[in-house]
Amino acid sequence: MAKIRLVALAKHYHRGGEVIRALDGVRLDIDDGEFVAVVGRSASGKTTMLGLMGLLLRPTSGRLFIDDLDTGKLDECELAASDSCSRNRTCPRA
Ligand SMILES: Nc1ncnc2c1ncn2[C@@H]1O[C@H](COP(=O)(O)OP(=O)(O)OP(=O)(O)O)[C@@H](O)[C@H]1O
Ligand SMILES: [Mg+2]
Repeated sequence: MAKIRLVALAKHYHRGGEVIRALDGVRLDIDDGEFVAVVGRSASGKTTMLGLMGLLLRPTSGRLFIDDLDTGKLDECELAASDSCSRNRTCPRA
């Protein structure tokens, strides 16, 4: 089981009628304890990918799994509490 799994992950930004395909169909598995460096030219989408993996951004399409949990199925409250220590904490609903 991969610790973090990106499946066809895409993030598109919209700016002034233009679509910026910052990420388009990224596939990546990172195992528990694996050390990974993200390298690429400026504007290749490194920060966007890390923002998605940190659950700070929502993907346009694709899936992001952490510990086999499909993060796309989490609501905002659950996203905030989705680190491995607090995933089982109950989120108060408004
Ligand atoms: N909030 C945003 N709104 C619109 N476009 C964005 C936004 N954030 C990033 N982009 C665009 O998405 C693309 C990828 O940007 P990103 O910051 O992920 O690249 P990067 O690889 O981290 O670049 P750098 O090496 O310069 O830090 C760029 O074309 C950037 O202009
Ligand atoms: Mg960056």
